[in-house]
Amino acid sequence: MEKIKEILSDDFSEKIVSIRGWVYRIRSSGKITFIVMRDSSGIIQCVASSDNLGEEEMKELSSLTVESSLELSGRLYRESRAVTGYEMSIESYRIYERNENFPIAKDLGEEFLLDNRHLWLRSREFTAVLKIRSTIFKAFSDFFYNNNYFQVQAPMFVSTATEGGSSLFNVDYFGEKVNLTQSTQFYLETLIYSLEKVFTIAPSFRAEKSRTRRHLTEYWHAEVEVAWYNNDDMMADEEKMIKFIIDAVLKNNEEDLKTINRDINRLKNIKIPFERIKYRDLIEKSREFGMNLKYGDDLGADEEYGIMIHFDNPVFVTDYPESLKTFYHRPDPDHPGEILCHDLLAPEGYGEVVGGGERIYDLQELLKRIRDNNLNPEDYYWYVDLRKYGSIPHSGFGLGLDRLVMWICGLSNIRETIPYPRTIRRVKP
Ligand code: 4AD
Repeated sequence: MEKIKEILSDDFSEKIVSIRGWVYRIRSSGKITFIVMRDSSGIIQCVASSDNLGEEEMKELSSLTVESSLELSGRLYRESRAVTGYEMSIESYRIYERNENFPIAKDLGEEFLLDNRHLWLRSREFTAVLKIRSTIFKAFSDFFYNNNYFQVQAPMFVSTATEGGSSLFNVDYFGEKVNLTQSTQFYLETLIYSLEKVFTIAPSFRAEKSRTRRHLTEYWHAEVEVAWYNNDDMMADEEKMIKFIIDAVLKNNEEDLKTINRDINRLKNIKIPFERIKYRDLIEKSREFGMNLKYGDDLGADEEYGIMIHFDNPVFVTDYPESLKTFYHRPDPDHPGEILCHDLLAPEGYGEVVGGGERIYDLQELLKRIRDNNLNPEDYYWYVDLRKYGSIPHSGFGLGLDRLVMWICGLSNIRETIPYPRTIRRVKP
């Protein structure tokens, strides 16, 4: 049994091949039935004709419908009119399941398609996105393994908030109120005291009320934490990581990028180092783009779109005002009111894909920031402890993998990046 992609070559021409998969398209004209078959690797046109098959067999094959599952054997020929350049002349077959009325067709409403996501995700475009997504997840891990990081795991049931209380999901944990994690960051911080350089890939949960095209309530979060690094060190690793991931996609997924009509040159032209712009300078610069932002304004999806639509390369925005970021970020000792942090904004209007920076490592400074944010230091006793026993400077970041997939694939909504998107309005299928 061969994979379709493997036999689309002159090496197999005139030879008997066998494939199995699903009917992608079917049409009969006179005494011939054309069946375009698909498997995970690609599509191929197969032709059933009475030259090779009996009357009953012809009848059985011509009555098949889209998404029926079957196995086909026959001789392969080069055929320039066929969709992928080759055609199989069917000599024998086995039907696994004869399918009635596959519900996914053209021009169906968005809600219907989302209700039937378990079937819709077989589409060629979505298959291509999932293959690119798979490369991105692998390349992320490969990059950090290659750079001597250790992969670690952290809990999803937690009792602390890292990113503020408003986006917490509460869970009844045997009578105790706990949360689903918003970020593994604090746990990763505990692990650098033994491993120094760590990363993880895990879901994060945000009870986001915002219905933007880039928010999920459950998303895949790739997070990194490193001992001794400052903000600049962290950005240097990050830009190399982004370039490494893009190169991996260009190497492994050229066909898939074509299937989804992604402008490949946009990705080929991404260059490091990425520009670094201080938040205050970005606010100034945004005026050039006709925006009316002032110092202290938060940059949401719309603002970042308005800025990043003017860029072809990602940009690091650094030195945000303290008021815009959560309590663990390290204030800049030389510039009161600003913190040593960065967001990485993707070009073409995509905006934030990474948030990171230096962490407070002085005990008193951390306690003050916790209290200033009306939080109780006792809830964070284990996080505070790290500042009592061998505290060190360190940095880290969190990358939204779904957002990275969205940008690399050039998609217009984050829902298109993940098989089963969880949003404010959807938890099924
Ligand atoms: O900026 P955030 O909230 O930062 C943190 O959670 C840090 N604790 C990470 C760290 O330093 N270890 O989230 C990080 C990234 C964002 O830049 C964004 O890409 C993604 O996570 N993200 C979301 N992706 C999809 N849906 C959402 N609701 C997201 N919220 C954040």
